[in-house]
Amino acid sequence: MRKQILFVLFSLATLSIHADEGMWMLTDLKAQNAVAMRELGLEIPIEEVYNANGLSLKDAVVHFGGGCTGEVISSEGLVLTNHHCGYGAIQQHSNVEHDYLTDGFWAMNRDAELPTPGLTVTFIDRILDVTDYVNEQLKKDPDPDGVNYLSPSYLGNVAERFAKAENIEITPATKLELKAFYGGNKYYLFIKTVYSDIRMVGAPPSSIGKFGADTDNWMWPRHTGDFSLFRIYADKNGKPAEYSKDNVPYTPKHFFPVSAKGIQENDFTMVMGYPGRTQEYLPSFAVEQIVNDLNPAKIEIRDAALKVQDGFMRKDNAIKIQYASKYAGVANYWKKWIGETKGLKKSNAIAIKQDFEKKFQERVNKAGKQAEYGTILADFEKNYKDIREYAIARDYFTEVVLRNSEILSFGYRLYQLEQVYNTKGEQAFNDRKNNLISGFEGLYKDYSAQVDEKVFEQLISLYATKSPKQFLPESLNNVNASALTTSVFGSSKLTSFNGLKELLNGDAKSVLEKLNQDKGYQLVKSIADSYQKNVAPKFDEINLKNIALQRTYMKGIMEFFPNDRIFPDANSTLRVTYGKVKGYKPSDAVIYEPVSYLDGVIEKYIPGDYEFDVPKKLIDLYNAKDYGRYADKNGKMPLAFIATNHTTGGNSGSPALDAKGNLIGLNFDRVWEGTMSDIYYSPEICRNIMVDARYILFVIDKFAGAKNLIEEMTIVYPKSQKAK
Ligand code: ARG
Ligand code: GLU
Repeated sequence: MRKQILFVLFSLATLSIHADEGMWMLTDLKAQNAVAMRELGLEIPIEEVYNANGLSLKDAVVHFGGGCTGEVISSEGLVLTNHHCGYGAIQQHSNVEHDYLTDGFWAMNRDAELPTPGLTVTFIDRILDVTDYVNEQLKKDPDPDGVNYLSPSYLGNVAERFAKAENIEITPATKLELKAFYGGNKYYLFIKTVYSDIRMVGAPPSSIGKFGADTDNWMWPRHTGDFSLFRIYADKNGKPAEYSKDNVPYTPKHFFPVSAKGIQENDFTMVMGYPGRTQEYLPSFAVEQIVNDLNPAKIEIRDAALKVQDGFMRKDNAIKIQYASKYAGVANYWKKWIGETKGLKKSNAIAIKQDFEKKFQERVNKAGKQAEYGTILADFEKNYKDIREYAIARDYFTEVVLRNSEILSFGYRLYQLEQVYNTKGEQAFNDRKNNLISGFEGLYKDYSAQVDEKVFEQLISLYATKSPKQFLPESLNNVNASALTTSVFGSSKLTSFNGLKELLNGDAKSVLEKLNQDKGYQLVKSIADSYQKNVAPKFDEINLKNIALQRTYMKGIMEFFPNDRIFPDANSTLRVTYGKVKGYKPSDAVIYEPVSYLDGVIEKYIPGDYEFDVPKKLIDLYNAKDYGRYADKNGKMPLAFIATNHTTGGNSGSPALDAKGNLIGLNFDRVWEGTMSDIYYSPEICRNIMVDARYILFVIDKFAGAKNLIEEMTIVYPKSQKAK
């Protein structure tokens, strides 16, 4: 009895330090998390999750394309990821005759699978702690700017050196990746293999895969069947190879059985994947700036651009098609920042950080380590004060010029072209110019000068009135935005592809002459010049100081809070996060349940709507309750669920696994109130959103009739259904 009480006390104590928080390195998983994971419910040995010297779950997880995660779910190389991760591929294979985005795509046999040039998936073979090696090299190598410790190109060189020294076998498909962790206090080398014959196997129509689109994005309750299927092909020996019709489906080292058993509140879950970027250890001064200055500026700019685009898209179908994908991209982070800002405020993140900083300072002083750590916080405070206006100006420049006004972003590419001429000469200029022209062709295909003119007018006015005045170019001082808009759009050749080609026709000298007479180009040049001169150098200077401080701060946190569960910020490397299936309370008097059902699709259904239309076949299946073996115990068709796993962008497509390592869901989003988890994780409201594996099976089986795919998977059914 006494033992039991002790045990309960012990587990409560561990759980109270946010047991769900953290994106853990596989190499440290056993030491840092074996106990906590078991307490939360993990049933398999930790060595089956990750094993440096043998097979483990990680062998079924891939980096999908550039920025997503995927996982192998059959012995024949079938890969599951999100619909929004496969979107580019689905779009690439679509045309007027077969519009796979609208209608979906299902390969009913291997011959029908579609090669997708440019798409790769990457496996990790080995992960090595190379901290000592990197630290030695850092001491040896010249480092005039003092940035080697986190420079990707420098670390790339060190990786190659290390591989040579250690005789690591390098094939054309090998990729080495050496990254800094804990702000540059630890280094890991990833030895990876890239497969490049990837074929598209299946995708539901957007009315399932993107159901709810932007309106439901970042929201719970959610009803999006956000999945698609691909297959890895290899040569006859199972080795990576370029596309060939003789290639065969790849036999993976491991694949995930798919669970049709379903989940319940409080079940253990873990997610393995490639989170992109978090900033969990920022000082309060930085978070204050994000909440009060940077996010509001970025949100206001995007808000203006989106409102204009939305107005046009609703009236004009051609514009809707041109702008749909751009709009979704801009809206995604616009909405995220709004949720993040609210969440940071509501969770008192700044006060909590300040509190932590007080403790940090106390422990530093008590340990007599003032020399090393004593002024970090004061230095941070000063630096964030000093950088404030530069950081705001930088966000205005990025959001207005580089991202949201198309004419300015086109002009900026030409500005870089002029710089290429000035620094590298005519040959480099011509190479860049030819490259640019082919890139521009695609950009102008989806460009409407009419839309962009209205966006420009709004954004240039924000730039001129709201970004720090002292850095503005002459051209924007007390400017009349509407007159400037009329003048630029009335005469600049940048408003059409033909105009652009005219500008770029001829040798470097005549091109630059024409450019410098163009009103649009003149404006971009004046803005970019003053940014390069007045903002960028100072921003970079202070920012570098902060990065160096952050490295020391991180070292101090690890030294003075050894019992806290410290994990390295996300950096697009493979991580595990774990937690429990759990609902949450978004606001007063509101409680969210953890599981959504197909019933919600029918509730949200708006016939003909571009976000909430529903395919007839799905409605028929719903009406007939024809759910095959995939219904929940209550007879309903489960669709999505949420849990306390700590995820971020890049975790899209990550496998959600149960206590035995079976696939129970597919990660695709977070809840709005909890998107601040990139900066501050609160177990109360931070939830990741996953498609239930049963809905994926149901759509493949009953909606698409792709029995061939169901048959190649290993499906774990609930006991009551074993006999079937
Ligand atoms: N919010 C998810 C993510 O960050 C889904 C994005 C899909 N895009 C969209 N606009 N619905 O990637
Ligand atoms: N949708 C995101 C992605 O593409 C995942 C959502 C998040 O940021 O958690 O990675």
